[in-house]
Amino acid sequence: MLDYIYPLIRAGLFRLDPEVAHHLSLSALRLGERAGLLKLAFSGAGLDEPVEVLGLRFSNRIGLAAGMDKDGDTIDGLGRLGFGSIEIGTFTPRAQAGNPKPRLFRLIEQEAIINRMGFNNGGIAAGVANARRARTFRGVLGFNIGKNKDTPNEEAAADYLECLRQAYPMADYIAVNLSSPNTPGLRDLQGPETCARLLETLQREQTRLAGEHGKRVPLLFKVAPDLDDGHIRDLSAVFLAGGLDGLIATNTTLDRDLVASHPHAAEAGGLSGRPEFAKSTAVLQAFASHLGGRIPIIGVGGISSLEDAQAKLRAGASLVQVYTAFIYQGPRLIRQLARGLA
Ligand SMILES: Cc1cc2nc3c(=O)[nH]c(=O)nc-3n(C[C@H](O)[C@H](O)[C@H](O)COP(=O)(O)O)c2cc1C
Repeated sequence: MLDYIYPLIRAGLFRLDPEVAHHLSLSALRLGERAGLLKLAFSGAGLDEPVEVLGLRFSNRIGLAAGMDKDGDTIDGLGRLGFGSIEIGTFTPRAQAGNPKPRLFRLIEQEAIINRMGFNNGGIAAGVANARRARTFRGVLGFNIGKNKDTPNEEAAADYLECLRQAYPMADYIAVNLSSPNTPGLRDLQGPETCARLLETLQREQTRLAGEHGKRVPLLFKVAPDLDDGHIRDLSAVFLAGGLDGLIATNTTLDRDLVASHPHAAEAGGLSGRPEFAKSTAVLQAFASHLGGRIPIIGVGGISSLEDAQAKLRAGASLVQVYTAFIYQGPRLIRQLARGLA
C-alpha cells in the first residue's frame, strides 16, 4: 500500500526543506512502528535469503547506509522496511551540532544529494542508549564511529577508541569512518601509515574488549571513492597486513563532473546517489582485486536499481547498502533489491 502512495508522500516531502523532510520521515516511521501500522503494512515475506559474512548472519544482502539514522533512534521503524542490516551513526564521543544549515541539497533530476551535515549527532552514549531501546529489529546492527570536529587528527585515535568501547557491547559490527568529506582533515586518516597505526590501535582494543564481553565484534573501515589506484593498492596492503575484518566502499564523493550543470553543484559537501555509482563501483572493484577475496567488502554508492546492486556484487562486494535512492524511490526499492538478489 505504502509503495503505491510513496510518489504522493514524496511529492509532499520534496516541497519541504530536505532536513525538515528527513526528520519528519523518521518521526513518521517511529510513530508508525509504535502504532503497529508498519507491521501491518510490511510483511517481510520473501525477503529473507540468509548469508553469512564477517562471521554474522545477514537475513538478506541489503543494508541501510550510515547517516540516515544518525542517532539510532529509528532502528525498529526502518527495520520493518526489510533491511537485513542497519548502520547507525556516525557517532562522535561528544554530542555535536554539525555544520550550519542549509547543509543538505537535493539534485532531483540526477537522483542525487549533496550533504555537508558534519556529524550532527547526540554522542555515542545517547546512541548506545537508543539502540538498547530497539525491540523488534532482528537484523544486523552496525555502529559507525568518527571523531569530534574539534579533536585534532593527532588525537583522533582516542575518539575512535572511546566510541569503540561504548558501542562494543551493543554492536554487531563497527564501521570506522575515515571518509566523510565534511569533517576537516578526516580523510587524511586514509594515509597508509596513519591508517596502519589506527588499525593496530583499534585492533588491540578490539582484542581486549572481546575478552571482556565474550564476543568478537568485527571492525570495518569505510573509505572514500576519491582515491587513485596507487593509494588503493597501498591501503589494500595495509588492510591485508593488519588483518582488517571488512571494508565499506564507499562514502560520498567530492567529484562534481557528472552534475556540473546543476545549480547546487558548487555546494560544498559529499555527492551521493546515481551520479556516484560508476566511480564508487570502480573503486570497490579496485579494492576487491587487490584484496583478492581475503577481506569482505560492503558495496555502497549510487545503487538505484537491482542491476546496480548486482553490479556491486559482481565488482566484489558481499553485501550492499543504500541511502540516496531510498529517499527518491521509497521503501519499495528495499524489497525490490532484497527479492531480486534472493
Ligand atoms: C545526508 C547524508 C548523510 C550521510 N551521513 C553519513 C555519516 O554520518 N557517516 C557515513 O559514514 N556516511 C554518511 N553518508 C554516506 C552514506 O552512508 C553512503 O556512503 C553514500 O551516501 C553513498 O551511498 P548512496 O549513493 O546510496 O547514498 C551520508 C549520506 C547522506 C546522503
